[in-house]
Amino acid sequence: MDDASSRPDNGGSESAAPISKPNSLGARNVAHVAHGYGNLDALERTPPLVVTRGSGVSIIDEEGREYIEGVAGMWCANFGFSESELVDAAIEQFQALPYYHSLIDKTTEPMGRLAEKLKGSTRVPMARVFFANSGSEANDTLVKLAWYYHNAIGKPEKKKIISRFMGFHGVTCGAASVTGIPQMHMDFDLPVNDRFLKTDCPHFYRYGEPGESEEDYASRLANNLDELIVKEGPETVAAFFAEPVMGGGGCIVPPRTYFEKVQAVLDKYEILFFADEVITGSGRTGNWLGSETFNIRPDGLSLAKGLASAYQPISAVMINQKLYDAMLAESRKLGFFAHAFTTTGHPVAVAVALRCQELMEERDVLGNVRRAGGLLQERIRGFADHPLVGTTRGVGMMGAIELVADKETRRSFDPSFGVKTYAVDRAREHGLIIRSALAGDSLAFAPPLVMTEAEVEEMMRRFTLALDDTTRWIEENGLKTKQAA
Ligand SMILES: Cc1ncc(COP(=O)(O)O)c(C=O)c1O
Repeated sequence: MDDASSRPDNGGSESAAPISKPNSLGARNVAHVAHGYGNLDALERTPPLVVTRGSGVSIIDEEGREYIEGVAGMWCANFGFSESELVDAAIEQFQALPYYHSLIDKTTEPMGRLAEKLKGSTRVPMARVFFANSGSEANDTLVKLAWYYHNAIGKPEKKKIISRFMGFHGVTCGAASVTGIPQMHMDFDLPVNDRFLKTDCPHFYRYGEPGESEEDYASRLANNLDELIVKEGPETVAAFFAEPVMGGGGCIVPPRTYFEKVQAVLDKYEILFFADEVITGSGRTGNWLGSETFNIRPDGLSLAKGLASAYQPISAVMINQKLYDAMLAESRKLGFFAHAFTTTGHPVAVAVALRCQELMEERDVLGNVRRAGGLLQERIRGFADHPLVGTTRGVGMMGAIELVADKETRRSFDPSFGVKTYAVDRAREHGLIIRSALAGDSLAFAPPLVMTEAEVEEMMRRFTLALDDTTRWIEENGLKTKQAA
C-alpha cells in the first residue's frame, strides 16, 4: 500500500483548481471509478496517470512517456511489464480451459503442479497449499485457520491474534484487523472485534533507545511481546502475524536477532507463527521466502504479489503438517472444509504462476536479486551521508531512504509539508516511479526482480535528480526549520 496519510503520489493539489484536461482518459476514468488508496478529492482535480503499455522494467503512459517502475507496480511485477513467456502461458491455458473450479470434488490440471512446485521451492517444510485471489484473502484465510485449528485441537479459548504496529496485511475485514496501520482502520470500524492485538513496530532507527544495540532492541521487543501474551493470558492467544520485511509500513528490515527471539516466545506459549510473504515471497529478499532470509519457521504463510508476477490475480496460503492434520480432523467431524472462493486456483492464474516459478529457475532470478539487488543496496546506502537522509535500509530488491529535517535529532518534516510526495512527483517528472511509504518521509524501492545492474544505475540516476530537486525546494521554502502552521 501507499502512505494513505499523504496525498497520492500521482499528484493532486490541495487547491480547488478545476480539473485539468476534462476530456482526457484520466478525467473520464475518475468520473466513473472509485480509486483505492487515492485521495478521492484530489483525484477529482488531478486525474491518475494512465498507463497503456509495458516494456521491460518500464511502463509507458498514454502520451508515450517512459518511466522506470521502481516499485514493480505494487511490489509485484517481478518479471517486469512485457514478459512474453507469461503471456503465452496465459493464452495456452485460456485456449485449453479458460475456467473451471477447483472446489468440492473437482480440480484442473495445472493446480496440483503449482502446489507441488511451491512446496518444493521452499526450505520451510509445508504440507498443503490453498489458493485464493489476493493477499488480503490469503491472510483472511490464515486468520480463519488460526481459529479453526484451535477449535480442532480442543483449545477453543485460544483466539487472539497479535500483529505489529505498522504491519500491513490487507484490507478485507480479517486482514485489515490484523493490519497495524491506524489509517487503515479509521472510520471503517476496524478492527472487527477485540481479538486483534498489536505489539511493537521493529523500526530500530525510530524506536531504538540511545545507546541501545540492535540486538538489545530486539530483546526488548521480544520481552514486550512476552509481557503482552502473559497479560492477555497465553491460553487465549492463537497466532502472531509478521511480514519478514515490513513493506507498506516503510520497508522496515527487522533488527538483527529479532525473529529468532520472537519465535522463541511464540514457541514457549504454543502460538502459531504466520509469515505474511505477500511482498517478500517469490524471491524479493534474495531467497525464495523472506522466512529463509530471516530464519523464521512459520506454521503458515501467505504469498501473492510476485507469485504470478501479478500478471494474473492469485495468492496462496501454505500450511504445515500440524495445521493440515487439524483441518483433516475437523473435516472428518464436520463433513467438509467450508472455505474456498469461486476462483480458488483459477486455471489461467495458476498456469501463469507455474510458468513464473519455472522462469525463476531457468533464468536464475534469485542470482540476479543477489547481484543487482546487491548493487541496489549499495546505491541506497550511498545516500546515507546526504544532508536530507536520516537512514537507509533494505535487503535484496527492496529498500527505502528516509528523509528527515534534522539528521542529528532525527526529527521528521511536518507531514503537512508533503516532502515525500514532492520527491515522488519529481521522480515521476524524471521518468521514475517510486513510492512514498509510511515511517516518516520514506521513499521505497522494490523494482522488478529481473532489473539489470545497468537499469539499477539508471534508476538511481533518475532518483538523484529527484532528490536534488527536493533538496532545492526544501531550501527555497526553509522547510528544515519551519514549524507547521
Ligand atoms: C505484506 C502485504 N500483505 C497483504 C497485502 C494485501 O494484498 P492484496 O492487495 O493483494 O489484497 C499487501 C498488499 O500490499 C501486502 O503488502
